[in-house]
Amino acid sequence: MIKSRLCDLTGIKYPIIQAGMGPFSNNNLCVAAANAGVLGLLSTSGLFSKDEQPWVYNAFVESGEANVNDDMATVLEKVLKRTYRLTKDKGGIFGINVMVSAELVKYSQVMIDTAIKVREENPDMKNHFKVIFTSAGDPVGWKDKIKGAGFTWMHVVPSVKAALRCKKAGVDVIVASGHEGGFHTSWEPVHSMILLPAVVEAVSDDKTLVVGAGGFCDGRTLAAALALGADGVQMGTRFLATQESDFHQIWKEGVVAAGDRGTLVARGFVGPARWLKTPRSVEHAKNTLQKSPGVFLGAPDDYTTVDMSLIKFEIESIKAVYEGNKEKALMAAGEAAQRINDMPKVNDMVQVIVRDAENILRSIQTKYLT
Ligand SMILES: Cc1cc2nc3c(=O)[nH]c(=O)nc-3n(C[C@H](O)[C@H](O)[C@H](O)COP(=O)(O)O)c2cc1C
Repeated sequence: MIKSRLCDLTGIKYPIIQAGMGPFSNNNLCVAAANAGVLGLLSTSGLFSKDEQPWVYNAFVESGEANVNDDMATVLEKVLKRTYRLTKDKGGIFGINVMVSAELVKYSQVMIDTAIKVREENPDMKNHFKVIFTSAGDPVGWKDKIKGAGFTWMHVVPSVKAALRCKKAGVDVIVASGHEGGFHTSWEPVHSMILLPAVVEAVSDDKTLVVGAGGFCDGRTLAAALALGADGVQMGTRFLATQESDFHQIWKEGVVAAGDRGTLVARGFVGPARWLKTPRSVEHAKNTLQKSPGVFLGAPDDYTTVDMSLIKFEIESIKAVYEGNKEKALMAAGEAAQRINDMPKVNDMVQVIVRDAENILRSIQTKYLT
């Protein structure tokens, strides 16, 4: 059976993380993933967009069995209790993904404080709700809060430089996210084949684990990540296209239908983002090239400098998803979409991934080692 240090650290059965995919709801996906023996991650950033994107917020609240009038801390509390209730009998392990970029810090604080409070008030939850996964910002400064409360701390990075900063900050599990990955990608792209072993070599040791993200979607790629020195993989796009996933049907079907070179990079709210290739996203890429070329040149801009017509286009296009409007929809996904051809149940999918990875690792030994 495949087992790694990630399993020992968190108590999950298989060394796989179901990625948090905000601002969209992962409430049901997280339950299914945790019950299938991998780490389920709830996204939380959907709770930041109550006023600007109520369709995102409402879907989050609805799937989390919360109330639209609840404040964000109350919604998170309800979602955490619901996730615990639905995973505890199967021994499921879960966590939350919290974006900590500078402009979101006031929300991140609320999310992390709420997580700590809810777990303190429900001691058995500690056996299930084990992880805080921070992303999109500087990890330095969060250690005392997260580790002090007894959580396992994970943080995602796009470079060796950022991985070294995580190590300095005291992160337990550093997730190296290659340019293949879905939705937000880094300004300066490095792909998993280079990034993952480079991060392993730079930071992996007795105390610091490394996980690969970006392009991992099956047994073959899980086995490859382990061969590259990782302790496991995080998969986003693969989990998005599953029966239990909370994503809109047109999005899931878009991932399954994507073929060879089925994604592209264009602007996406806070920087470069990978979208399914459609006439709508091609139009957005052309607009990006004209109005925000830094996306393709590694030259960051932000909300103070970016042409807001791009952001407006993105907001309209995300709204179109919730309206089921395929022509106007922009749907994020990783390059792995071209390798995904089905929409399985999460547990069946995990079993196939793990079985295939085990067979591949065994066959490599018999085929290539004399
Ligand atoms: C639709 C979508 C939304 C995402 N949102 C977030 C997010 O809110 N926070 C985050 O850390 N990563 C986010 N990601 C990135 C994933 O967590 C993960 O790292 C990535 O999907 C891995 O690459 P893969 O898609 O090739 O599996 C998102 C990815 C997708 C596809």
